[in-house]
Amino acid sequence: MVQRVRIADIVQCCLVVVVAVLLMLPAGVLSAQPAVDGVVKTGEYDHSTVLGDGIYTLSWTVAGDTAWFGIQATTTGWVALGIDPETVMKGADMVFGWVSGGKTTVLDQYSTGMFGPHPDDTSLGGTMDILSSAGSEQSGTTTIEFSRKRVTGDTQDKAIPASGNLKIIWAVGNADSVSPHARKGSATIDIGAPVPIVLTFTISSTNGTRNGTPVTLDAAPVIQNGRTLLPVRYVAEPLGATVTWTAGTRTVTIQRAGLTLALVVGRATAVVNGGNIRIDPADARVVPIILQGRTMLPARFVAEQLGCAVSYDTTTRVVTITYPKP
Ligand code: HEM
Repeated sequence: MVQRVRIADIVQCCLVVVVAVLLMLPAGVLSAQPAVDGVVKTGEYDHSTVLGDGIYTLSWTVAGDTAWFGIQATTTGWVALGIDPETVMKGADMVFGWVSGGKTTVLDQYSTGMFGPHPDDTSLGGTMDILSSAGSEQSGTTTIEFSRKRVTGDTQDKAIPASGNLKIIWAVGNADSVSPHARKGSATIDIGAPVPIVLTFTISSTNGTRNGTPVTLDAAPVIQNGRTLLPVRYVAEPLGATVTWTAGTRTVTIQRAGLTLALVVGRATAVVNGGNIRIDPADARVVPIILQGRTMLPARFVAEQLGCAVSYDTTTRVVTITYPKP
């Protein structure tokens, strides 16, 4: 008897883990967010600028609360980006990186003055706020890619605006270590207007699109009680939101700066920033469901909470989600 209970527990536990893992798999081809893999591909970033007579190319994408940067520079030593300096180097939020023996080092630093080396944020009481980083070195070019929150909350970091101008400094060095620069310079970049994100989903089809690029969903959207339900990460992740699944309470939590949405399987009310909101005020049957092991959420509710416009073409059965609202 004792053993039978244990086996049942194990089976149930495995199912919960499988559902959780399926729900949280990365969106793969869906995301137009740059892949932080140490290689800057053509068209990977929304914007780029060439500095220092061609020796330093900075690429960037800003989406939601996150910024991605790619630095490609003609050096086998270090490369660096300084964000929003006050006087020349002073007050710049610096990201410093190099590739040595196949290993990439990326440091989150802050310039306290017109001298170096610059301290790591952590040694000034701040935090390391690089979310992801990768690098490569090939044919005399060093590439460093990294991502971070636009606004980290760390006093050693400068805010990156969602649009408008940003003052930067750049530098490269000859050594794979924190050491004086060989070339340096400054520029003002236009972060650029946020690029609208247009997602389409077709009922009963796993073929979707993101800004015209095909996307393959791992579960087809369905209509239940007149509302479209779909695997939510295909909406949330392109908009810079994170999706987590809490198996114990069967809750999907979607988070983006200033917004926390929690939806529970089978429940007609969602919690939005701590307050209860009916998913469909006109129909209590509109609830998150689990279909063939996938958690499917009401598309319109989630998309509208994330600031999107939603339309549905009854002839083609295509749902179009646009961010930001036109
Ligand atoms: C160990 C590292 C570093 C040391 C020792 C260092 C040192 C210095 C010194 C002494 C100066 C003033 C004299 C001069 O113009 O050469 C300077 C200027 C400058 N540094 Fe650095 N620096 C370091 C890292 C960086 C990094 C990481 C960046 C960019 C992210 C940077 C960007 C600049 C810029 C833009 C100037 C001003 C150039 C000008 O106005 O002509 N430096 N640095």
